[in-house]
Amino acid sequence: MKTESFSLRPATTEDLSAILQIETQVYPNPWTEEHFRLELTKPYSHFLVFTDDETDSIVAGYLVAWVMFDECQILNIATGLNYRGLGLAKQMIQKVVSIVAKKEIKKVVLDVRKSNAAAIQLYQQMNFNITHVRKEFYSNGEDAYQMTLRLAGEILPSF
Ligand SMILES: CC(C)(COP(=O)(O)OP(=O)(O)OC[C@H]1O[C@@H](n2cnc3c(N)ncnc32)[C@H](O)[C@@H]1OP(=O)(O)O)[C@@H](O)C(=O)NCCC(=O)NCCS
Repeated sequence: MKTESFSLRPATTEDLSAILQIETQVYPNPWTEEHFRLELTKPYSHFLVFTDDETDSIVAGYLVAWVMFDECQILNIATGLNYRGLGLAKQMIQKVVSIVAKKEIKKVVLDVRKSNAAAIQLYQQMNFNITHVRKEFYSNGEDAYQMTLRLAGEILPSF
């Protein structure tokens, strides 16, 4: 699989059914179509999708992040099962960091399940640190790690 034949762009309503297919495969409590649809209308939401260059309709991954005040929060990031391990999640985070760094945002934050070793490894590789433990954050009682990437006054991370 060549990752250079996939590109990131803002999501549209036409991407939603492909996004939902991935979402329902990878999360125990998936977002609904309505949830994603609302993200398309929020001025502070960055909703990005990785699609193939040939048809622009095959979705390999997506990310939703909010920019509010001096903070960016990543709310959802997922890569389709057939596209894992190709660096797509890394590229999605790099893209959002490059967008928010221009807006003088000081930090990027997110919550991740304590058991989600792949995601924690991804964020740590990208210089996020665990800044908080949220006890029983998820509906099954699992704790969350809040992880933070500080940007203020620092040179952009080189990943
Ligand atoms: C977490 C997730 C987004 C990673 O997507 P991906 O596109 O496969 O990740 P990348 O290819 O960009 O990997 C980048 C780094 O992440 C880490 N990583 C990714 N998958 C991993 C795995 N299965 N095990 C351990 N580390 C992993 C590695 O550090 C990797 O770097 P490397 O390739 O140099 O080793 C993907 O597994 C996913 O969609 N999971 C389900 C949804 C989810 O849990 N989202 C996060 C919610 S907080």
